[in-house]
Amino acid sequence: MKAGGWAGLFPVMATMGAVGCFDAVEPDVGPPLHDFCQNEDSDPSRDVEFTRDIVRGIFVDSNIACYDCHTADGRTPLGLEVGGLDLSSYSGLRSGGAVGGPDLVVVGRPCESILVQKISAGPPFGSRMPLDGPPFLDNEQRQLIIDWIAEGARDN
Ligand code: HEC
Repeated sequence: MKAGGWAGLFPVMATMGAVGCFDAVEPDVGPPLHDFCQNEDSDPSRDVEFTRDIVRGIFVDSNIACYDCHTADGRTPLGLEVGGLDLSSYSGLRSGGAVGGPDLVVVGRPCESILVQKISAGPPFGSRMPLDGPPFLDNEQRQLIIDWIAEGARDN
């Protein structure tokens, strides 16, 4: 390079700095495509109960209404007919769905469980559940499902 080559660049760099090119390094990429997930139980002092917390607290909840679509006597049993998933009982859930099969719940591994992936942003196939959301599950409800699987996915 000729002597003075670098010196020639100085005015250019100074101008870029002055108009803020170096400050704007973070592109606007929008929200993350997947929700954050951790396999650990977030609160080991609390025992999540399937019937009380998951079924009554979430599956039947009128805002979420998994039951409407995932039980034979639901209002629009599309989730049962198309998704092959019966949420009317513990054994129905553990039998799995049309695509996920029994991997819907991988005991002790909530993040690998398709049930958790389907209620989160960026599901591995099909739509995020509930299909007619929003509203989707809030963070507390989602964490209850994660913790229930982390604690062994018991029928309690
Ligand atoms: C408006 C109807 C509707 C509601 C409400 C609904 N689902 Fe679904 N669900 C479907 C349909 C249709 C499919 C199949 C298409 C797909 O996977 O996106 C499905 C598929 C699924 C699957 C994947 C099954 C498989 O292995 O193929 C899971 C898991 C699931 N739903 C869980 C839930 C949960 C949990 C709720 C409540 C939070 C819920 N769904 C609410 C209609 C519904």
